[in-house]
Amino acid sequence: MKISIIGAGAIGSAIARKLAQNGIQATIANSRGPESLKALTDELGPNITAVSLQEATQADLVFVAANWNRLSSALKDAGSWQGRILVDANNAVEVPSYQAVDLGGRASSEVVADWAAGARVVKAFNHLLARVLDSDPQVNGGHRVLFLAGEDADAKKTVSDLITRLGFAPVDLGGFNESRLVQFPGGPLAILNLVKYD
Ligand SMILES: NC(=O)c1ccc[n+]([C@@H]2O[C@H](COP(=O)([O-])OP(=O)(O)OC[C@H]3O[C@@H](n4cnc5c(N)ncnc54)[C@H](OP(=O)(O)O)[C@@H]3O)[C@@H](O)[C@H]2O)c1
Repeated sequence: MKISIIGAGAIGSAIARKLAQNGIQATIANSRGPESLKALTDELGPNITAVSLQEATQADLVFVAANWNRLSSALKDAGSWQGRILVDANNAVEVPSYQAVDLGGRASSEVVADWAAGARVVKAFNHLLARVLDSDPQVNGGHRVLFLAGEDADAKKTVSDLITRLGFAPVDLGGFNESRLVQFPGGPLAILNLVKYD
C-alpha cells in the first residue's frame, strides 16, 4: 500500500516521523514543492520522499494535514480521489484566532469529503496537539489513544491497522456524526491525551 502525506507542517511532519520511525515508506508534499522539504527528508531518512502535490494524491492512503483556509484548493488541485483513502487530520479552525470556522452545523470531515469527491474519508490524527502526536505513543506500558471515525468500514480497518503499527491504540468512534467528538475546538475529546492499557 502506497502512503503519502499532504501538508508538511506540525502535524504532517509528526505523521511522517512516526512512519519513518516504524520503517514505513511514504511520500510527502507541501505547497512549495519537493525542494523546500529537503531539511525534513534529510532528517527523516530514506523512508520519506518529497514529491509534488499531484504525485502525493496518487497514493492508496493519503494523510491530509493542511491549513483549513487553504484545504479546499489543495484537495481540488490534487486531482482525482476516486477510491483512495483520505485520512483527514484537519480541524476547521481559523489561525491565529483559533475560532471555529462556521460549517453550518456539518462535521468537518463531511466538508472535506465534498471537496475530495470520491475519496474514502477517515477522520483521524487530528485530536492531539502536534507535539503530543510527535512524542512516543508507548507510555508506561500503555498505548496513546488515536480516535478514528468515518463512513467506510474497510477504509477505517486499514487506518486502524496502521495506527496500531505506529504504536498507538485505535478507538473507533463511528461515522462522520461521531467525528464531531474529536473536532477542535468544541469536541469533548479534542486534545484529550489518553493512554489505553490492555
Ligand atoms: N498544530 C497542531 O497542534 C494541530 C493539532 C491537530 C490538528 N491540526 C490540524 O492539522 C492541520 C495542519 O495543521 P499544522 O499545524 O500542521 O499546520 P502548519 O504547520 O501551518 O502546516 C500546514 C502545511 O500545509 C501545507 N499546505 C497548505 N496549503 C497547501 C496546498 N495548497 N497544497 C499542499 N500543501 C499545502 C503547508 O505547505 P507550505 O508550507 O508549503 O505552504 C504546510 O506544510 C490543520 O487543519 C490543523 O487544524 C493541527
